[in-house]
Amino acid sequence: MEDSIAVRDLVVDRGGRRVLHGISARVPRGTVTGLLGPSGSGKTTLMRALVGVQVINSGTVTVLGRPAGSPELRRRVGYLTQAPSVYADLTVRENARYFAALHGRGAVDADRAVADVGLAEAATQLVGTLSGGQRSRASLACALVGQPELVILDEPTVGQDPVLRADLWARFHAMAATGTTLLVSSHVMDEAARCDRLLLIRQGRLIADDTPDAVRAAAGVDDLDEAFLRLIRASETGTDDGGRPVGTDGPGRPARPVDAAAPTGAAGEETS
Ligand SMILES: Nc1ncnc2c1ncn2[C@@H]1O[C@H](COP(=O)(O)OP(=O)(O)O)[C@@H](O)[C@H]1O
Ligand SMILES: [Mg+2]
Repeated sequence: MEDSIAVRDLVVDRGGRRVLHGISARVPRGTVTGLLGPSGSGKTTLMRALVGVQVINSGTVTVLGRPAGSPELRRRVGYLTQAPSVYADLTVRENARYFAALHGRGAVDADRAVADVGLAEAATQLVGTLSGGQRSRASLACALVGQPELVILDEPTVGQDPVLRADLWARFHAMAATGTTLLVSSHVMDEAARCDRLLLIRQGRLIADDTPDAVRAAAGVDDLDEAFLRLIRASETGTDDGGRPVGTDGPGRPARPVDAAAPTGAAGEETS
């Protein structure tokens, strides 16, 4: 399958500290891929690199066949930042229409985007008066309104009630069914089962890049939460808590990242 995103050996430092330690990952076109990992693991940093706003130390980031951040990608990639980015002194509808206009879309598209995120009833409300969850959905509507080919969503379902959360995931899959590619981050592991593919990140290293079923099979358990735990432990084999090598394999050897070139199965073997 054609890849919408291809990342190779991505290294990023922020504030003088290494945040991404050589990430390699791919996101096939027309899938909902989850970027799962605890708070501080590097999800937002990776997404920033994908949209070209993050200075990187080394590696390559290819998005829709172009280097990340290429001007022509601006209209082809939608990005929902983790903090809602909408105008508080405009209504929901006005925000959506504004962002629609930036993408050459009209009022009909804007109103549809607002309805799609479940905000039709709040369309005429000032964003500044919305609840946190509503505001984040308003921001989502603005990220989707241009109908981009690739949608990068940073924790879009945080703070949403369970019914809305299910609705949003159904919407993501409906978009994928028409060929849109979605990368959706979450620190809530129970969202992993809703994804076609998973990128599991921990402490700036990729632990898994596979389907939920393959992750379950590699770890030998059905529960994805437990599977992640096992894969994390497997990835840490050979180093102690300080990251120093336990064996004599060589000084400074980092915990082995699992990337596209090293299937999840390889890490899973270490659990047995
Ligand atoms: N502006 C910044 N300056 C320095 N360090 C940062 C900055 N933003 C994030 N970090 C650090 O980068 C690491 C990864 O952060 P982030 O990508 O935001 O993780 P996540 O989105 O998974 O919570 C964390 O250790 C965080 O403290
Ligand atoms: Mg984040």
